[in-house]
Amino acid sequence: IFGTGRKNSQGVNLNIRSQYQPLMDQMAGFMDKRHDVKPLLAVEVADDPANTHAVYSPYDRRQTVGSVQWTSAEQARQAVDAAWAAFPRWDATPVAERAAIIRRLGDLMETHMAELMTLCSREGGKLLTDGVDEIKEAVDFCRYYAMRAEQLFAEPTALPGPTGESNHLQLGGKGVFAAISPWNFPVAIFCGQVVAAAVAGNTVLAKPAEQTSIVAHRVIELLHEAGMPRDVVQLLPGDGPTVGSVLSSDPRITGVVFTGGTDTAQIINRALAAREGAPLPTLIAETGGMNAMIVDSTALPEQVVADVIQSAFQSAGQRCSALRVLYLQDDVADRVLEILDGAMAELRVGDPRDLGTDVGPVIDEDARHGLNAHIERLKGEKRLLAETPLEPARTAEGTFVAPMAFQIDGIEALEREQFGPILHVVRYKASELDRVIASINGRGYGLTFGVHSRNESFANAIAEKIRVGNVYINRNIIGAVVGVQPFGGQGLSGTGPKAGGPNYLLRFATEKTVTVNT
Ligand code: SER
Repeated sequence: IFGTGRKNSQGVNLNIRSQYQPLMDQMAGFMDKRHDVKPLLAVEVADDPANTHAVYSPYDRRQTVGSVQWTSAEQARQAVDAAWAAFPRWDATPVAERAAIIRRLGDLMETHMAELMTLCSREGGKLLTDGVDEIKEAVDFCRYYAMRAEQLFAEPTALPGPTGESNHLQLGGKGVFAAISPWNFPVAIFCGQVVAAAVAGNTVLAKPAEQTSIVAHRVIELLHEAGMPRDVVQLLPGDGPTVGSVLSSDPRITGVVFTGGTDTAQIINRALAAREGAPLPTLIAETGGMNAMIVDSTALPEQVVADVIQSAFQSAGQRCSALRVLYLQDDVADRVLEILDGAMAELRVGDPRDLGTDVGPVIDEDARHGLNAHIERLKGEKRLLAETPLEPARTAEGTFVAPMAFQIDGIEALEREQFGPILHVVRYKASELDRVIASINGRGYGLTFGVHSRNESFANAIAEKIRVGNVYINRNIIGAVVGVQPFGGQGLSGTGPKAGGPNYLLRFATEKTVTVNT
C-alpha cells in the first residue's frame, strides 16, 4: 500500500523492487558499519567514555549502530562562545557564498544517499521508501533556501519616499540560533532547520534528538566538507536537561528553532523568557498535531481508505502531520470501515529494510510503552474496530506497535497526541457538522486537516472554517513538498513558521530600514 513489493487491497501490483535494488545494493556496504561519534565543535573534543551512550536499532534492539558521546554543559557553553564570536564575520559573508555552501551540502547528500538512508533505517527505523523521501526533502530544503536567501538577502529592497530621501530595507542575520530537532525526520527537519538559520546569516548550535544523533553527525560532517566553517555550525548531541537547558538559558542565544512536542516547546519558551537582561528571543516552533479528516457521504470509500492508510500508518504514524481522528458521516461509515478493516489486515509490520514491510517500528521502548498504555485503555472500553496482526517472527526483537483503529466519541476524548499508528474514528450525522468543526477547532491544535467529498463547495466551505496550517482535499494529509506545500501549524501546533515556504527565512532575519537624506 505504501509502494512496497506486494499487492495492495485492490490487487494493484506495487512491486517496485527493481527500482530500489541499486540503492539496496549500495546500502549493503553500510549495514554493518559501526559509528562512534562525538560533538562537532569549533575545537576538538576529548574522549569522555563516561558520557558516551550506545545506540540500538529500533527494529532489533540486539543490534548496535554505535555510540554517541554527549556534549557536557561546559562544552555547550564553550560552543556558545565560539558561535557568538563567529556571528559578525558570518553575517558579513556575502549571501552568494553562504548559499553556495548550502547547495554543496545538497549535492553531497545526494551522492551519499545510500549511506544516509542506511543510517535513517538503522538508527531511526525508517522504511527504504521513507528514507529516499527523507533525503530528497533535505536536498530540496538546501536548494530552496539557498535560492530564497539569494533572492531576499543579496540586495536591499528600495522603498518609496519623498524627493530628497532614499529608503531601503536590508535583511541580516539575528545572531546565534539553537536548532533543536526531532528523531522522526532526522535528516530532513534537522537539515532544514540548520541550513535555514545559517544561510540567513546566523551561527548555529544544532542539538539533534538523542535517538538519531549519528545520522545528524554525518550530515554536519558533510556540511563542513561543503565548506561551512566549524565555528558557524556546531553539533551538540546530548539530552534536553544538559544541552537543551544550556542553550535555552544562555543570554547570547538570539533564537531557537524547535520541532518536537508542544510540552517541550513550552519549557523552552519559559526558559528563554526567564533570562535576565537577555534580548527578547525568537522562538520558531513546529510542534504536535491532533490532525483530523472529515469524510462526507459523497466521498469515494476506496479512495478514502487508501488515503487514510497512508495518513495514519505510513512511517508508523510517527509524523506530526499524521491522521489521528477520522470523522465519518453515518451514511458512508460502514462501507469505509469494512474496506479499512480489510486493508489493515493486509499491512505487514516488520523490519524496515525489507521491501515487503509497510509499517516499521516505533522509535524506542518509551514510545511503545506509552502507545500500549493508550491501546489498553481503549481496548478496556471495547472500542477496537480494526487492527493489523503482528507476526512474532518479524517483530519479536524490536519496538513494534500494531496499527489499530478505535471508535471514540470525539476529538475532545483524546488527552494528548498519540505519536504512533493509532487511528481514532468518530461517526457523525450530517446535522452535526458545525459541532464537529467547532470541536476540532476548539481542541486547540492546528497542523494538518483533510476533507474527502465530491461536493466541491462543501469541501471548500470546511477548508475555509478549519483553523490549521495545511488543508488537504481528497488526498492524504502527509508528505508536504518543499516549495509546494509550505508546512507548519498554529495554536498548540506551533508559532506558525512555514518550513519550505517563501517566507520561512524571514523568521531568522533582522530587518533594518536605512533612510538617507540625499
Ligand atoms: N513535513 C512532514 C509531512 O508533511 C511532517 O513533518 O508529513
